[in-house]
Amino acid sequence: MARDKKLIIGNWKMNLGVHEASLYLHKLAEVVKVHRGVDVVIAPTVLAIQTLSLQVNYRQFKLAAQNFYWRDHGAFTGEVSASQLRGIVQYGLVGHSERRHVFQETDKDTRAKVQAAIRNGIRPILCIGETASEKAMNETNDALYDQLIGGLANVTSEELESVVIAYEPVWAIGTGNNAVPLDVAKAVRTIRHHLRHLYGTKAASAVQVIYGGSVTEHSAADYLSLPDIDGLLIGGASLDARAFAAIVEKAHNQEKVKR
Ligand code: PGA
Repeated sequence: MARDKKLIIGNWKMNLGVHEASLYLHKLAEVVKVHRGVDVVIAPTVLAIQTLSLQVNYRQFKLAAQNFYWRDHGAFTGEVSASQLRGIVQYGLVGHSERRHVFQETDKDTRAKVQAAIRNGIRPILCIGETASEKAMNETNDALYDQLIGGLANVTSEELESVVIAYEPVWAIGTGNNAVPLDVAKAVRTIRHHLRHLYGTKAASAVQVIYGGSVTEHSAADYLSLPDIDGLLIGGASLDARAFAAIVEKAHNQEKVKR
């Protein structure tokens, strides 16, 4: 369904309080142009989601949760559920490298969260990627397979349509050390190969697969010009309105070339 559009996601991580986030969204709304072929998604701190949901023009931006708990309700002090986010966000990040490595989230957690998102009408963005040592030991392929199986185990081929896969090599996130575009294209082909194996050609070829890891306005076009890559997950550069708007324009330019 969605592969005819590029997907640009800004992950603000644990930056900007409610007031700052609201001001920043206002600023973004002035500089980010709306294009038919590009979906732009913002992932603010959970605290700001409600405020931004009242302010945002959903034609211009969709909202994403950076994290959520997999149970819908109950005695889970401090957690926010996908069911509570239902109708406010359209996307939810699952298994981001910082969740896996700082908060020790497992494939079992990602699997439950993917399910919770789908159950609540939220498109899960399942983040997968190899660590530096896995890369050094030539284990990228296995790492991707394990994380795909781990996260998608209970997902049917119909449900797969709503899932986005973000290839984010752990060593490339927040390091300024972005992956070589041709290596990313190779990893994305591997991901699609695994998806074909799990779901068959038709379902696998409909899934949006995006890249994330130290992307800037200068490197964005190198990824977006590759036919295998359907978009970008941007951390640091999404906090610079001009740079983020420039990345959205690069996505639009690529779509124009295709048409
Ligand atoms: P980065 O973050 O662009 O700052 O490397 C990417 C991410 O965490 O998704």
